[in-house]
Formats: sequence, structure tokens, C-alpha cells
Amino acid sequence: MNLILLGPPGAGKGTQADRLREDFGVPHIATGNMLRAEIAEGTELGEQAKRYMDAGELVPDEVIVEMITRRIEDADAADGFLLDGFPRNEQQASSLDEAFERLERRLTAALLIMVADEEVVRRLSGRRVCVKNPSHVYHVELDPPKHEGVCDQDGSRLVQREDDREATIRRRLEIYHAQTEPLLAHYDRAGLLRRFDGQRSPEEVHAHIRATVATLRLEETL
Ligand code: AP5
Repeated sequence: MNLILLGPPGAGKGTQADRLREDFGVPHIATGNMLRAEIAEGTELGEQAKRYMDAGELVPDEVIVEMITRRIEDADAADGFLLDGFPRNEQQASSLDEAFERLERRLTAALLIMVADEEVVRRLSGRRVCVKNPSHVYHVELDPPKHEGVCDQDGSRLVQREDDREATIRRRLEIYHAQTEPLLAHYDRAGLLRRFDGQRSPEEVHAHIRATVATLRLEETL
């Protein structure tokens, strides 16, 4: 079960990954969260990444590719993983293909969550994330926590991300359309692309993806 989640910023990749991780017992490997952890720890990599992230630009490939290709070899990813935020351009997609070949693994599916640009802006402007675990994601109106400003899952404080400002969100969208969207054809040609309507409620999107992944898992065992 080697899965990648694709879609524009704010499509709900993190929201769905958090649910699918529990359904299928695979780790959620999110490049954005890994980079934010490096920033929080004050590492050199984090320092290098921060200025790109705050501006909504992609972090250079050499930083990301090594980080991810090493991470998918960790013991907890031996039976599969859910990759979120990678690959984001052709160079990263080729590096992932090469890593699969080297590890004698293959991609099970690329799950695309589709959402219109204006909805992305609405969602990201109201997004709040858990300060302790950024996989715990909320929205002030669309998916609020039970108690304002507090994470339902671990009681930590909820905060707004630096790159969730409108101008930065629009720059991230431009980059998605120019660099990441062309990858859809690559996975479609390989028969691996599965599309989901991300404009539905988080529960409906989750139900659709879960059913598709469950079918794929069944097919793998036959
Ligand atoms: P990253 O952290 O990966 O951000 P992103 O791809 O822009 O995606 P988001 O986390 O913003 O959105 P999401 O789809 O996970 O949506 P979410 O579930 O939170 O990357 C950040 C930066 O890191 C990049 O800009 C870049 O600089 C760098 N980076 C990362 N990977 C890189 C790479 N491979 N190469 C180079 N640089 C890289 O949901 C959004 C909101 O909507 C939430 O509030 C949620 O509650 C709400 N919501 C979710 N689903 C629904 C729904 N169905 N209906 C209503 N509301 C919903």
C-alpha cells in the first residue's frame, strides 16, 4: 500500500491522511510537516527551508528528495506509506520512481483530491493546526474543534500557519498549476490516478477514498 496524495494546497490532503492513516495502519509522511518540524528544531535544513515556505515557493529539490527517499526506507514504512506533499514537480516524480525501483517496490495509487482555487483560498484562510501535532487540522467554520482554539485530539493550542496569508496562498496555487498539475498525466498514463471530488464534506471525501483504497488493498491480496 504505497500511496501518494495529490491536489492543490488546501485540498484536504492532510485532513484525509490523518483519517486514512488510522484506517489502513500506514504512516502519514508529509513533507510540509517534516520541514516545519525542522524549522521548530532550529536545524540548518529548517533554516534553509523557511524562507522558501514563508514565500510560498518550493524548497529546492536536493533538500526534499533526500529527506523523503530516506524516510520511506524507515521500518514503519516497510508495509506501505501515505505520501503527502511529494512529488511536486517532474524532478521529484522521477526521483520517486527511481527510489521505488531501487527498493523493488511499486506505487499502489496516486489519490487526487480536486478543489477549485477560490475554495482553496477560503479554506486556508480559516485553517488552524495543532501546535504539537500538525497532522491535527481544523477550520474555524468548516471543520471546527469542539472548543475554540483547542485541539480535540490532544488538548494543545491551535495556531495559524505563516503561509496561510492570501497573497502566499495564491502564489502556492500558481506553483501547483505550473509544476505539480503536469504530474497528473504521468500517473494517469500509468493507470494509477484515482480522482476524488474534494468539494464534498470531509466525511464524504473520506468515505470515497477509504472505499477505493480498501478495494485496491483487496486486489493486492488476490
Ligand atoms: P504543505 O504543508 O505540503 O502544504 P500544501 O501542499 O500547500 O497543502 P496544505 O497543507 O496547505 O493543504 P492540505 O491539502 O493538506 O489541506 P488540509 O487538510 O490542511 O507544504 C507547505 C510548503 O512546504 C510548500 O509551499 C513548500 O514551500 C514546502 N514543501 C512541501 N513539500 C515540498 C516539496 N515536495 N518540494 C518542495 N517544497 C515543498 O485542509 C485545509 C483546510 O480545509 C483545513 O482548515 C481543513 O479543516 C479544511 N478542509 C479540509 N477538507 C475539507 C472539506 N472537504 N470541506 C471543507 N473544509 C475542508
